[in-house]
Amino acid sequence: MLGRLNHVALAVPELTAAVAAYRNTLGAEVTEPQALPEHGVTVVFVNVGNTKIELLEPLGEGSPIAAFLEKNPSGGMHHLCYEVDDILAARDQLKAAGARVLGDGNPKIGAHGKPVLFLHPKDFFGTLIELEQS
Ligand code: CO
Repeated sequence: MLGRLNHVALAVPELTAAVAAYRNTLGAEVTEPQALPEHGVTVVFVNVGNTKIELLEPLGEGSPIAAFLEKNPSGGMHHLCYEVDDILAARDQLKAAGARVLGDGNPKIGAHGKPVLFLHPKDFFGTLIELEQS
């Protein structure tokens, strides 16, 4: 089921500062900010050759990363995103195995314009997992 690592996501308190650190200090290629109101975040991607780093800043009221940043005010690793060939088949297989899918269980369109789902971190050793259809 599990395909390649699509990205590692870091929640950051201030996207402008994080972009500057990655672009100027680390010399990385960083995409332009993209607002995703349905997910409550603004994102950029840092291209690092074998995968990407997603930098997430809260957007709007009730952002799903607001509580995370309260606990981790300087930011931190938020989730891992793996690719799957068929997201609905993956969801059904995971649910049958007892894993909890967050939200209403239906994929939303993610930052790459592809369907995504999130799996409960307590089912995967404290790590929030995003699945993205490849
Ligand atoms: Co992500």
